[in-house]
Amino acid sequence: MMSQVQIRIAPSILAADFTRLGDQIQQAEDAGADRLHLDIMDGRFVPNISFGPPIVRSLRTATRLLLETHLMIEEPDRFLEAFAEAGSTTLIVHWEGSTHLHRTLDRIRTLGLKAGVAINPATPAGVLEEVLGDIDLVLVMTVNPGFGGQRFIETTLPKIRRIRDLLDRSRPGVELEVDGGIDAETASKVVAAGARVLVAGTAIFGHPKGIAAGIQALQA
Ligand code: DX5
Ligand code: ZN
Repeated sequence: MMSQVQIRIAPSILAADFTRLGDQIQQAEDAGADRLHLDIMDGRFVPNISFGPPIVRSLRTATRLLLETHLMIEEPDRFLEAFAEAGSTTLIVHWEGSTHLHRTLDRIRTLGLKAGVAINPATPAGVLEEVLGDIDLVLVMTVNPGFGGQRFIETTLPKIRRIRDLLDRSRPGVELEVDGGIDAETASKVVAAGARVLVAGTAIFGHPKGIAAGIQALQA
């Protein structure tokens, strides 16, 4: 039964070799990645800085994959247009970082993009209830955002199960994605709990046998 569920893989380029980014995303695309996951960090919402719209724009010309942009930034409204113009397919904002979340989601959809909401490990599933009708995707953080290569937080599993139930009952079309510490071992746990899209950086770009092997290990 498990094998009938379609699992999509979203490589996070945070763990890629940026001197060879074009080649690396081509390998990810050839190996069956569903989309690229782009981690945007501002040094405020999270204690780290990554990259901004110019990199997204370059990636747009280099791949046909969907570009899913995960905004780990304060006041994301200031940058929705910039990341839309750069070529994002989906914008994911944090529940914890959005004071007027309903308005933010409305703006994302008005820009013609898909909208996602991310929740941190300490944030309960229930906060999603009032926005499920306005989103295409829920992103459950399985680490505290800010860095790649962290250890998966096991206590997020019951929450993933609760969100799976919630979606099955009211919004089965909304994607349930997980992000952080996903490898071959934790992948089977989150999929059993109900996740259908897996973000992975280290397990893909840091796989000793290469990117394709990393993606295959997650799919298995
Ligand atoms: C964490 C980011 C993740 C991160 C995942 O703040 O949102 O997308 O890149 O990296 P791994 O797979 O190495 O935990
Ligand atoms: Zn992410």
